[in-house]
Amino acid sequence: MDAASAAISREKPASIDGLLELARPDMAKVDALIRDRMQSPVSVIPALAEHLIGGSAKRLRPLLTIAAARVAGAQDDSCLKLAAAVEFIHTATLLHDDVVDSSQLRRGKVAAHLIWGAPASVLVGDFLFARAFELMVEAGSMQALEILARASRVIAEGEVLQLTRAHDLNLSQDLYLEIITAKTAELFAAAAEAGAVSAGASPARCKALRRFGQDLGLAFQLVDDALDYSGTSKSLGKNPGDDFREGKATLPLLLAIARTGEAEAAFWQRTVDRLDQQDGDFERASGLISSSGADDATLDLASDYAVAAKSQLAEFAANNSWRPALEDLADFAVSRRM
Ligand code: IPE
Ligand code: IPE
Ligand code: MG
Ligand code: MG
Repeated sequence: MDAASAAISREKPASIDGLLELARPDMAKVDALIRDRMQSPVSVIPALAEHLIGGSAKRLRPLLTIAAARVAGAQDDSCLKLAAAVEFIHTATLLHDDVVDSSQLRRGKVAAHLIWGAPASVLVGDFLFARAFELMVEAGSMQALEILARASRVIAEGEVLQLTRAHDLNLSQDLYLEIITAKTAELFAAAAEAGAVSAGASPARCKALRRFGQDLGLAFQLVDDALDYSGTSKSLGKNPGDDFREGKATLPLLLAIARTGEAEAAFWQRTVDRLDQQDGDFERASGLISSSGADDATLDLASDYAVAAKSQLAEFAANNSWRPALEDLADFAVSRRM
C-alpha cells in the first residue's frame, strides 16, 4: 500500500497550521468582511450574530474556498466574498439546526435560541442567509452563485429529510449517507467548487476540487457523529449526547444496534425508539458503541473518504504548496477532537 492510500492515523490530531499560515492574509480579509456584513440597524441582529460568530468557529469552509481558489492559481481576491458567503450560509444553518436539535451549547457558548429565543434565532439565520446571497451577487460569478444557491437548497432538503427519517432504527446506511451528503458534504463540495470557479480553473480541476470537498465533508460529518458519543463539551464546544437524546440514527448508533443484537435490543428500543431515557443511559450507549467497534468502523469509513478526497488532488502539481495544505485538511477532518 502506498502512502497516499494508507489509512489516516487518529493517534494524534493532524495539524492544519501550514494551511492556516498560507491562508492567513486571505482569512483576515474574510473575517473583516464577515464582521462588516453581520451589521444591521436592528440591534438584536448584530448582538446575536456576534455571540455566534465570536465563538470558537473553525472556519473550515471559507478556508476550503480560499485554498481551492489558490491551489488552482487564483491571483486576485475574487474568492474572498465567496468565502465569506460560505461561512454565512454555514452559520445560518447552525442557528436553524440548534433550534431543530434543541442543542444547548454551540462554539463553546450557550446556544443563541436559549438567550434570544427560537424565533429570533431562526430569523437572524434568515438574515445571514440573505447576507450570503448579497455577497455572492457582488462576487459577480453567475456560476459560483448557481453552485452555492443549489447547495443552500440541498442543505435544507438534507435537514428536512433527517427530520422525517433519521429517527428510524432501521434506517439504512445508504439513506444515512444520503442525509449527510446533503446536510453537510454539499456545502463543503460547493465551497471548494466555487473557489475553483472563481479562479477560472479548468472543468476537470473544478470537478476534482468539488469531489475533494464532498469526500472531505462526508469524512467530517462521520467524525462529528462519532464525536457526539466520544467527545467532550470542552473540546467540541457543543454537548456530546445531543444525537442520542434526540434518538437520531447516526452511523455509530446504527452499527452498534446491529452489532449488539438481541442482547441489547430492549435497551435500544427503550432509549432510542421510545426516547425513554434515564441517567446513565448515554454512558451505556457510548460504551456499547465503543466496545462493539461501531466507533472504529465509523472512523474507518471517514478515513476512506478522506483518502478518496486526497486522491483528487493529483490534478495539482506536487510542488504547489496549497496541495499538501489541503491534504492536511483531510487528515484533520478524520483525526480531529474538536
Ligand atoms: C458543525 O460544523 C456542523 C457540522 C456539519 C457537523 P463545524 O464543526 O465546522 O462548526 P464550527 O463552524 O467550527 O462551529
Ligand atoms: C450539521 O448537523 C448539519 C447542519 C448544521 C446543516 P448536526 O446536527 O449533526 O451538527 P451539530 O452536531 O449540531 O453541529
Ligand atoms: Mg445539530
Ligand atoms: Mg452532530
